[in-house]
Amino acid sequence: MNPINHVAIIMDGNGRWGLRNKSSRNAGHKAGLKTVEKIIIESVKQKIRHLTLYTFSTENWKRPKNEIDFLFGLLENFLKNKIEILVKNKIKLKIIGDKKAFSKSIKFLLNKTETKTSKNNVMQINLALNYGSKNEIINAVSKLNNQKLKISEENIQNNLFTKNIPDPDILIRTGDTKRLSNFLLWQIAYTEIFFEKKLWPDFTEHDFKKILEKFKKLKRNFGNI
Ligand code: IPE
Ligand code: IPE
Ligand code: MG
Repeated sequence: MNPINHVAIIMDGNGRWGLRNKSSRNAGHKAGLKTVEKIIIESVKQKIRHLTLYTFSTENWKRPKNEIDFLFGLLENFLKNKIEILVKNKIKLKIIGDKKAFSKSIKFLLNKTETKTSKNNVMQINLALNYGSKNEIINAVSKLNNQKLKISEENIQNNLFTKNIPDPDILIRTGDTKRLSNFLLWQIAYTEIFFEKKLWPDFTEHDFKKILEKFKKLKRNFGNI
């Protein structure tokens, strides 16, 4: 049975769910947040050490302003009102991505939540916010270049946002789309990938557990036989 240390999720399909069920994309984002809470609780139950959630990509800035504002409003509310989920379950929150682009109030809340949860050790949630894998790899290589350090696998790894985070065992993408959309391209070299037809707001704990069970039985080779 394969151990599960790290699950990463591309939470896709909110917009389509919103249009189909409530005639607004933003209603889908709101519904998607409920799934986030359910999957966090289930991950704690399953003793998963790292849960990485793709929340906003470097490319998502192309969306209409009203949708971007709505998404950051949801994030702000979550950080203000749901912190007890993190505290109660001893969950540490870490942001992966470039925080520079965010408003002062979001930056303040993110830093506050990271500090407040930094000693928690049951599970770590890595929230990928303004995250882009290409940008992350370029930054890592530039840092090595500036410090005249060797471009080695270890040195690159240690300069990614995911420094100190083991590579994901499982990557799930909901929303019936089979692409990676600039997510963890370096880190998923040997990750098992599961594409899920359901849209993120419809994804349940049961669907999640089914994927975990499938994963446990896989034969992982890492190049060996
Ligand atoms: C993913 O859902 C959530 C974010 C990108 C924030 P989408 O908003 O991409 O939903 P679809 O793919 O348009 O349905
Ligand atoms: C990926 O979904 C980003 C997040 C889930 C945050 P997108 O919906 O942005 O991906 P594309 O644009 O369809 O590839
Ligand atoms: Mg999408």
